Amino acid sequence: FEVLWDAAAADKGGWSSFMAKEVSEEPEAIANTVRGRIRDGLVSIPELDGLDELFAGINRIIVVACGTAAYAGMVGKYAIEQWARVPADVELAHEFRYRDPVIGADTLVVSISQSGETMDTLMAVKYARERGAKTLSICNTQGATIPRESDAIVYTHAGPEVAVASTKAFVAQITALYLLALHISHVRGTLSDTEVRQQVLELEAVPDKIARVLEDEQAHIEQFARWMGDTQSVLFLGRHVGYPIALEGALKLKEISYIHAEGFAAGELKHGPIALIEPGQPVFVIVPSPRHSPLLHSKVVSNIQEIRARGARIIAVAEEGDAAVLPYADEVLRIPLADPLFEPLLAVVPLHIFAMGLATAKGLDVDQPRNLAKSVTVE
Ligand code: G6P
Repeated sequence: FEVLWDAAAADKGGWSSFMAKEVSEEPEAIANTVRGRIRDGLVSIPELDGLDELFAGINRIIVVACGTAAYAGMVGKYAIEQWARVPADVELAHEFRYRDPVIGADTLVVSISQSGETMDTLMAVKYARERGAKTLSICNTQGATIPRESDAIVYTHAGPEVAVASTKAFVAQITALYLLALHISHVRGTLSDTEVRQQVLELEAVPDKIARVLEDEQAHIEQFARWMGDTQSVLFLGRHVGYPIALEGALKLKEISYIHAEGFAAGELKHGPIALIEPGQPVFVIVPSPRHSPLLHSKVVSNIQEIRARGARIIAVAEEGDAAVLPYADEVLRIPLADPLFEPLLAVVPLHIFAMGLATAKGLDVDQPRNLAKSVTVE
């Protein structure tokens, strides 16, 4: 008689994988990252107390990160520029320090790292400091090396992330960047208190909206992913904040299902990627809100028409009630209504579920994909 007890399975809390558990925790990863950082409806991050002068004195923000964290940074760039009116760039950490960037005391280098141990990101932070830039770390792991090497820290409170492919940490990173952007907007006076409060309310509404995506769409997306089990290649298109989400959707699929996947900016389609479209090619399209961004919405719908006419199989990630996509989409994955800057936090969820569903359908280990490590501590 042998008692079989699997410690790892116990930690998964009944879920089939850590990744499944961590995707289910996306709502609370956001809620926990916001918790304790709102006072009187405004953003108040205790870790940043006393740093107003730093935020008032910068003229530029450069986000450095690798992998999924870099895509979170790309989403954050839109919020930083729109709200705080500070020019922001995002750079892969391993490219940044080898190109002699123009940085100095007026530059804030924001690093993003779930583990806080990624060597490429750490070296970029050290490099920035040596050149006199200010450094701020967005990190999920208390006491990790990168935050210790930085002037300021904003922890994401996503909880431990075990699966190699990052999911809940990604949405928590975007959340932390948004809090930071709102804080800088307040310090620099680029948003009024009323405007900050309105964005805070939008952010606080996100966890429940993600919970709804999980509740309403997860089973449908998993079934769809099983049906796509033999797919050889998947393309992802997005525009504005949907562009980094397209990149993230493609990265996740590559990482855990070993399928060729590419993300593109939808506007770039006609400059090259459209040549890839042949009958049957699956293309995920992140569709901007028709209410908030009618112009971008119509442009993306024409992209859909163009590739559909060439035989592409369209999987639209679209806001509830957006009927314009229905005539052209083979599959529609619905997300709740949200202001444009908050759409990425919702649109990424179906893509995480899809990648996981497809890898599972192929019988792969979604938590431990081949050749990858959770934290890459070599350059
Ligand atoms: C590795 C992981 C990726 C992750 C990247 C950055 O490559 O496989 O999933 O996005 O590192 O990790 P970090 O801990 O710095 O966020």
